[in-house]
Amino acid sequence: QKLRIGLIPADGIGKEVIPAAKAAIIALGSDIPKPEFLDLMAGWETFTRYGVALPEETIHALRSDCDCALFGSVSSPSKKVVGYSSPIVALRKELDLYANIRPVVSVAPQAGQQPDVDLVVVRENTECLYVKQEILETGANGKEARATRLITERASRRIGQMAFDIAASRPRKLLTIIHKSNVLSVTDGLFRETVRAVPSLPEVGGIYDGVTINEQLVDSAVYRLFREPQVFDVMVAPNLYGDILSDAAAALVGSLGLIPSVNAGDDFIMGEPVHGSAPDIAGQGIANPLASIRSAALMLRHLGYTKGADRLDVAVDQVIREGQTLTPDLKGTSTTSEVLDAVLRLL
Ligand code: NAI
Ligand code: MG
Repeated sequence: QKLRIGLIPADGIGKEVIPAAKAAIIALGSDIPKPEFLDLMAGWETFTRYGVALPEETIHALRSDCDCALFGSVSSPSKKVVGYSSPIVALRKELDLYANIRPVVSVAPQAGQQPDVDLVVVRENTECLYVKQEILETGANGKEARATRLITERASRRIGQMAFDIAASRPRKLLTIIHKSNVLSVTDGLFRETVRAVPSLPEVGGIYDGVTINEQLVDSAVYRLFREPQVFDVMVAPNLYGDILSDAAAALVGSLGLIPSVNAGDDFIMGEPVHGSAPDIAGQGIANPLASIRSAALMLRHLGYTKGADRLDVAVDQVIREGQTLTPDLKGTSTTSEVLDAVLRLL
């Protein structure tokens, strides 16, 4: 038996942290089926070289030749570039990876960081403002830009079910629905109502009976996240709110370089560190590889390889706790490869 893993480092520090995750997976030895890696292209550099950010071959290989994948990070320009569209947003759609699951946990907090944070942001991954239907017109007010925000019952229901599943599996069994339906009563209202109704779906039976449902407006959720993040267990949110909340939550526990995620669908799973391509530090060999190693662990856990996943998480946690070998984002002086070596020694 083999485990076929697609690797898409993409741009910037993605090229530095994905190889680290690969090395950590290899170090698991017989705790997982023999890994077989497939190097795949996507990203801004791919676009500048070949004129396409997400080549057909990459999508095809993921669909036909891979059991799972790890994605690094892309550098997307903030101005519109004709023909370019973010490959990660496209991949999530192509593979129907409708949930982005982002656990944020404090391990050995330093001064200024929050202790005892243990939450998961469950972000809807396919719609909201990320459908990218934007138009620019010139009207009485000069230029007028409009964006479509799509919320559907189907997507809200399945992200809701995923979030209830995760909440039901955790000790506190507490689900907080994040929305802004006091203002956006139609779109956020639909999201809120649909998620709330999940436990009473006929096919659900009583399996979510033990889950407590809370809700919080997104602005006050940010406020509480900074003041008392310990109150949150599982947070489910439409795409944009979930994106912002999880980056914010990363600050509570030290660094974006620690926060993993998986993009999950019913048929495929892709690990991905939450951070971007970090152009400010790319190429210096100092990117924190721990978010990517944890993303590999999440991916393996999702596939049922609990022992391998646990070993990766235990090793990462120990490196953070010991505090001897940390990259500069965690106020250390170590390099990416030194941190990787510390993880590999523990494995
Ligand atoms: P970013 O996440 O790349 O960086 C934010 C800050 O965190 C920077 O100071 C960076 O040095 C630091 N940081 C991030 N990851 C780190 C790591 N592993 N180790 C140490 N420090 C780390 O966000 P930014 O700067 O807003 O975006 C840069 C580019 O990344 C943009 O082109 C953006 O479009 C893209 N991006 C891509 C994402 C993806 O591929 N899913 C997600 C977010 C941004
Ligand atoms: Mg983000």
